[in-house]
Amino acid sequence: MSDAPRSDDEHADPVHTDAATAWWRNAVIYQVYVRSFADGNGDGVGDLAGVRAKLPYLADLGVDALWFNPWYASPLADAGYDVADYRAIDPRFGTLAEAEALIGEAHRLGLRIIVDIVPNHSSDQHEWFLEALAAGPGAEARELFWFRPGRGENGELPPNNWKSVFGGDAWTRTDNPDGTPGEWYLHLFASEQPDLNWENPKVREDFEDVLRFWFDRGVDGVRIDSATMPAKDAGLPDFDEAAPPFPHPFVDRDEVHDIYRAWRAVADSYPDPRALIGEVWLDQPERLAAYLRPDEMHTAFNFDYLNCAWDADDLRRVITATLAAHAPVDAPATWVLSNHDVTRHVSRYGREDSSFGNNGRQYHVATDLDLGTQRARAATLLSLALPGSAYLYQGEELGLWEVDDIPDALRDDPYFHRTDGEVLGRDGCRVPLPWSGSEAPFGFSPDGATAAPWLPQPAAWAALTAEAEDGVAGSTLELYRTALRIRRAQPALGDGTLEWLDSPAGTLVFRRGEDLVCAVNLTGQSVSIAVPGELLLSSGGEVDGAGWSGELTAESAVWLRTSR
Ligand code: NOJ
Repeated sequence: MSDAPRSDDEHADPVHTDAATAWWRNAVIYQVYVRSFADGNGDGVGDLAGVRAKLPYLADLGVDALWFNPWYASPLADAGYDVADYRAIDPRFGTLAEAEALIGEAHRLGLRIIVDIVPNHSSDQHEWFLEALAAGPGAEARELFWFRPGRGENGELPPNNWKSVFGGDAWTRTDNPDGTPGEWYLHLFASEQPDLNWENPKVREDFEDVLRFWFDRGVDGVRIDSATMPAKDAGLPDFDEAAPPFPHPFVDRDEVHDIYRAWRAVADSYPDPRALIGEVWLDQPERLAAYLRPDEMHTAFNFDYLNCAWDADDLRRVITATLAAHAPVDAPATWVLSNHDVTRHVSRYGREDSSFGNNGRQYHVATDLDLGTQRARAATLLSLALPGSAYLYQGEELGLWEVDDIPDALRDDPYFHRTDGEVLGRDGCRVPLPWSGSEAPFGFSPDGATAAPWLPQPAAWAALTAEAEDGVAGSTLELYRTALRIRRAQPALGDGTLEWLDSPAGTLVFRRGEDLVCAVNLTGQSVSIAVPGELLLSSGGEVDGAGWSGELTAESAVWLRTSR
């Protein structure tokens, strides 16, 4: 395998021709969870060969970029967010040469590539961590992580009271090289994910080199995992759950911004713009915007929007607050409804409580999938009409729902295992995609595959395969294709501003540019919308081409061409 980056032929690479474009301001970015996207070699696990075969499907869908969840060498203790080698592809997914080929092929189809970088922690199988364990207490190798002696008479208690996001203590005790009980190490997620010490210059230098490694291979941007967490209070003080201290000992500390300023300098050192996109999971839009100052990241995920219930007033408040917080830093807002960590929005919107909360995940609750689907389709037209860029999570274009009934024995998420099954976890949104055919594996794996898909697919997904929806008027896949085609052709959509128009209770109506209006009815009855115009697209009952009557059916959205 060559270590030298493959240089793509500039002329065959349409995404790298216009160096002046800040493409992330408008982009629709499709999230590829490789493990569940498409299986090329028949082992039941998605891989790069599977993705390469589907690149024409993605180009045809009309998205601008693909974000890959971690594809690096990993024991997959947290689905690849436990990285053993940031410069190698996991052999279950393929090889570095295949990744390079994929980047070139995607570029030729006009698709940009974003990779996931995980700075907060590595895998316990990363060579640094193995060296640190072998070296023993006091060794320099331990300074790349957070090793500390325990509290209590014999060091038998964790060094502080921090808890893992996935449940249990955030500390695991090690054995000394001679087998006696030794120091503890910090892991804010699973014990297989030791936190890196960003006060150490070697950590900083190495990650900047990792960025260059991927940018040199043509990668167009990085999604920064758990971006608020890498900086810690080195005193490691106890955390007061009842009265959280500020600054927080490990979330959203001022020092974390130094990391991203240095990364921005790396991104800016390339002639064609490389994007920094943060997973900034904060519920104050102003704090989020601090990550988007001109010398830091370009964009960040908008979790307030994702978390919001299907409610016109709440959504209008979130949208307005988002835009207000982004304006002063001149960063584009982003709009996202689903990803690999949250309940798919078809299911969320079909429930009495349609909001999402990381700590209030709902399982086995009454879910009206027809209603959820109607709302999800309307929400898609809403998201794609809002100013800025948008994220789609694989399978939402097919209308997939959350799978609740995965047998416990097959559940993989550390959330499930670290909480003894109290939290069922995120496997339900990670079920392999249905591509074709009438029964599992629905074309996810090739004919003659040696293994079943790594998570079982619902039989009812036969109606939601890409093949079943292809070319079918009114299917969710065709709705997405048409919406993305119109969005590309309409200069009013994407980056810019919006103007709210007066509208009846339970609706959202806004204008983009001079001549485009998006109207959303979040109620269970049809509503008259006093905006004349030509119907461009409808998520609901209206037949395209039938004209705009001014009546918006229940739980639906339209895009109208109109004049002031
Ligand atoms: C956020 C990622 O999105 C999630 O999947 C992962 O478990 C945690 N970070 C830890 O890396």
